[in-house]
Amino acid sequence: MINIALPKGRLGDKAYAMLAGVGYRCSAYNENSRKLVFRDEEGGVSYFWVKPADVAVYVERGAADVGVVGKDIIEEGEPDVYELADLKMGRCKMCVAAKCDWYDDTSRPLRVATKFVNVAKKYYSKLGRDIEVIKLNGSIELAPILGMSDVIVDIVETGTTLRENNLKVFAEIFPVSARLVANKAAYKFKNAEILSLVRKLNDEVSND
Ligand code: PRP
Repeated sequence: MINIALPKGRLGDKAYAMLAGVGYRCSAYNENSRKLVFRDEEGGVSYFWVKPADVAVYVERGAADVGVVGKDIIEEGEPDVYELADLKMGRCKMCVAAKCDWYDDTSRPLRVATKFVNVAKKYYSKLGRDIEVIKLNGSIELAPILGMSDVIVDIVETGTTLRENNLKVFAEIFPVSARLVANKAAYKFKNAEILSLVRKLNDEVSND
């Protein structure tokens, strides 16, 4: 039995469709159900859906053997897991954005609003720029509009949110896409199963 953690939402749905397409269909799965765990004894697969940021926690602790998680979350939390495949879905970019007329006043610390505190700290520490982090949980774009922060560090997908709020990208930090991650012990003890899953997913991704 291979236990797979998927992120709730559009990315998780797409990841499940890909997994089902390469032979990991779960007959018990019903997207309208409130059930949390779906097992397919015959297919030897079990799925559960959790908050995107929690996937890596379940995998790190071995409650799931593998999971699908965004590179943004991996970079932020640095979970102790193996990153085995790039599923090339859920693509976006981690960026620094600000009001279109923003310029950097280097005489004082830069106020950075973000959900990705560690990503922001790592990025600016490499640049040697002092920052003051303002941790937010959503609608990050509001912070520079209201003058609460100078810039934001956030993911940009279509760029619509920035455009509609007169903000623009000033720097791209790294590209983001969904990754298959594995628990380190499971990778050892279920090696053949996990490698077979990775091979099938990689074939599917390169055929796309
Ligand atoms: C994310 C991100 C941006 C937006 C970018 O927010 O934080 O706000 O999507 O997408 P776009 O470039 O296609 O406009 P999300 O929808 O996850 O909600 P949040 O604001 O609560 O984080």
